[in-house]
Amino acid sequence: MKINILTLFPGMFSGFTSESIIKRAINSGSLEINIVDIRDYTFDKHNTADDTPFGGGAGMVLKAEPILKALEGIDGKVIYTSPQGVRLNQKLSNELSVEKEITIIAGHYEGIDERVIDEKVDLEISIGDFVLTGGELPAMVIADSIARLLPGVIKQDSYEQDSFYNGLLDHPHYTRPAKIGDLEVPEILLSGHHKNIELWRKKESLKRTYLRRPDLLENREFTKEEKKMLDEIKKEV
Ligand SMILES: C[S@@+](CC[C@H](N)C(=O)[O-])C[C@H]1O[C@@H](n2cnc3c(N)ncnc32)[C@H](O)[C@@H]1O
Repeated sequence: MKINILTLFPGMFSGFTSESIIKRAINSGSLEINIVDIRDYTFDKHNTADDTPFGGGAGMVLKAEPILKALEGIDGKVIYTSPQGVRLNQKLSNELSVEKEITIIAGHYEGIDERVIDEKVDLEISIGDFVLTGGELPAMVIADSIARLLPGVIKQDSYEQDSFYNGLLDHPHYTRPAKIGDLEVPEILLSGHHKNIELWRKKESLKRTYLRRPDLLENREFTKEEKKMLDEIKKEV
């Protein structure tokens, strides 16, 4: 998959693309990240990419023409990072992960000229109800949440058991050593009994979701096993 990211601050992405799982995904060819410097598409001698807002007021606005020019010849969905957009969630990341190519525009200052949104943007995505200085971090968040779902990037059974993928929060995780002072790992995890471990994990997952994010359970179609576990959980807590 190819993800184009339009930004005024390309340097912010150097760590993102050169470390850990994203770096591996790029090196293996599963992911291409194309950082596009909006300033390369400016046309005046000062390379002006932003200007004061019509009507007056604080802040600067990213000019339309450089962004429109940068978008020329680019294929696929165009996303604008915006606190006013739909909230990013796992379902949306899953949907985007099957696209061949997407483009994410990172706004800055007061945002981008609305005419770019009217003409070219398919979807505005927010990463939460707060305002950041720019869309670079949201662009990384969106790209990262998609990248880990691409074939060969991480194991499928690893992301499928992660929070939200199947509508529940993940179960707790432990690693060696089994004992740290009087802190012990739940015994079941040392038993080697895979079926029981799976049941324990499922129940912990349900329990966490029930206690921390009951909203996720509201429209869930429970299996018989889950219903039984949930009844037990309600008695236990
Ligand atoms: C300071 S913000 C502009 C906020 C805009 N004036 C508003 O109130 O809706 C600058 C840029 O950061 C990005 N941004 C800020 N908060 C965001 C969020 N919660 N989700 C996605 N993008 C965000 C957007 O690209 C935005 O254009």
